[in-house]
Amino acid sequence: MLPVDLVIIFTMLLIIGMMVTSVYGFIAGVPYVPTPHPVARAMVDLARLRGTENVMDIGAGNGRVLIEAKRKHPSIDATGIELAPTVWLLGKLNIFLSGIRIRFIRGNAFDHDMSRTDVIFLYLSPAVMAKLEDKFDRELKPGTVVISHAFTFPRRQPVEMTALPGWMGKKTIRRYEW
Ligand SMILES: C[S@@+](CC[C@H](N)C(=O)[O-])C[C@H]1O[C@@H](n2cnc3c(N)ncnc32)[C@H](O)[C@@H]1O
Repeated sequence: MLPVDLVIIFTMLLIIGMMVTSVYGFIAGVPYVPTPHPVARAMVDLARLRGTENVMDIGAGNGRVLIEAKRKHPSIDATGIELAPTVWLLGKLNIFLSGIRIRFIRGNAFDHDMSRTDVIFLYLSPAVMAKLEDKFDRELKPGTVVISHAFTFPRRQPVEMTALPGWMGKKTIRRYEW
């Protein structure tokens, strides 16, 4: 096989991967956009983890927020759920390369029970936040902490928020307590 054949195969795989990611983003109503590293670190700080919690990232992307959380608090129990298979694969690879143990599930977060979760990280969309608020009202135990990058719940008020500068404007993160 010539090097040019490898380049063609790699390019085609990349294009197919981007198309699959776009289709899933369209179905879920949330495109894949990774949280910038400084924002991921600020989200972990705002969660004020003690180190013993069950932590979940809903729509975990490349696993960045959980890797950050687990690096800082190695004894937390970390689970990511990611809908898009291509993004999930990217997350698995990223987690493998980080050498950190994180449960990383491929699936729809709405099919998973969250009643035993202590802290949840989110970076989704207004429509999904509205649907999640109903699920959280049904399932979350009192005191569960939810940290959301950018998007708000329609009915619930954050207990704390912080904003970081970003090249596309300010990045706001909010802390909710259920
Ligand atoms: C904006 S990205 C954020 C990725 C990551 N949390 C971060 O902050 O870097 C949102 C991700 O949520 C995923 N997603 C959307 N709806 C989902 C659902 N119902 N269940 C699981 N993942 C979902 C999308 O596939 C996408 O990768």
